[in-house]
Amino acid sequence: MVFDNRVPVAMEHDFAELPITGQMPPALLGTLYRNGPNPVRPAPEAHWFVGDGMVHAFSIGPRGVGYKNRWVRTQSWADAQGQSMAQSPAGVANTNILLHAGHLLALEEAHLPVSLDPASLATLGAENFAGALPDAPFTAHPKHDPRTGALVFFGYGATDFSDTIRIGELSQSGSLARLEQASAPYAAMVHDFAVTDRFVAIPLFPLIGYTWQPNRGAWLGVMDREKGISSLRWHKSGPGFAFHTMNAWEDDGALVVDLMLSDAPPFFPGTDGIVLPASDANLCRWHLDLTDPNATVTSRKLSGTGGEFPRIDERFLGRSNRHGYFTAFDALCHRDDLTGAERFFRVPDGDSVSEPVFVPRGAAEGDGWLLTVIFRADRCTSDLAVFDATDIAAGPLALAHLPVRVPAGFHGNFVGDAS
Ligand SMILES: [Fe+2]
Repeated sequence: MVFDNRVPVAMEHDFAELPITGQMPPALLGTLYRNGPNPVRPAPEAHWFVGDGMVHAFSIGPRGVGYKNRWVRTQSWADAQGQSMAQSPAGVANTNILLHAGHLLALEEAHLPVSLDPASLATLGAENFAGALPDAPFTAHPKHDPRTGALVFFGYGATDFSDTIRIGELSQSGSLARLEQASAPYAAMVHDFAVTDRFVAIPLFPLIGYTWQPNRGAWLGVMDREKGISSLRWHKSGPGFAFHTMNAWEDDGALVVDLMLSDAPPFFPGTDGIVLPASDANLCRWHLDLTDPNATVTSRKLSGTGGEFPRIDERFLGRSNRHGYFTAFDALCHRDDLTGAERFFRVPDGDSVSEPVFVPRGAAEGDGWLLTVIFRADRCTSDLAVFDATDIAAGPLALAHLPVRVPAGFHGNFVGDAS
């Protein structure tokens, strides 16, 4: 029987030093944070997406690799514990975790970010950046603009099911540089978006009221960041659904968006209440002619490899990237867009690979390490795996072995010691 690693773990742990196989790169110093749903009280009828957030931290230092995991102390967590905690943050904070303006933020798309202590993972509270953010949805997939350090974000009607889309930017120092709103063609769940130097691009798929309504069609909203919300325009797109974008950029008067496109969303029902069998998501390229305000989006499949959780060397966010990485679940995949070649590191049957996170080493795009967490089915444990991003097929440079497992989760990011 195959063990489903979405089953939550019951304990919080602190391990000062994990056994290591191979050689950790001496220059790799910092912490890989990951986040995912881990319900305090698992209920069979509850959707996997809404479990209480648990964050995991692998700290990589000169003396070895440590690990700790903590539930985010949200109101939902407190309720499940039967505790009354004044001021505990709303939501489940279970989707992503990243550092901005000195704040380590656990993110979930229906609520404000939750600040955590980067060392202890203690919950500090809902983060509104000194009052800059109103109490309203904030995406779990904000983008750091590599030119300015700004954090570009959006929010959709995740709690009121309205068609309102908000688009904003927090400056590198955490002040609110922009927050505007407009209406989308319909009130959809909007999980991810894309940012270029000049544009914000919001793919909109007909997952409406948490049901899949493909006859409503997909759209791409494009806003000029200089001109603001009055420039937001919606362009019709083809069939399919995507949770995640890989990147976007401008190319000779066109906007290009790479995203993991599937026929229909996994885990959600159609209007008949039936959840469709999950179909593979494949890396596809959307193309929009920006010189024609009435242009529609064209789509082309780039890869036949089913996968999810696409990432890049994020120093190249918003610019044409050559190197892309994603998990094919039973393999880690590196795709070279220049040649179309894909390279893989495959794991044994039953094991699974989480989202890869790129950590820069040299200045060139793709010169760095790729970090992922591998679930080991035979031992029911997890390993932190560190690859040379230029040669993942050679296998990990180092593995740090946990005596416990990290449950299947969503997203993570690396915070270097110099940050
Ligand atoms: Fe996501």
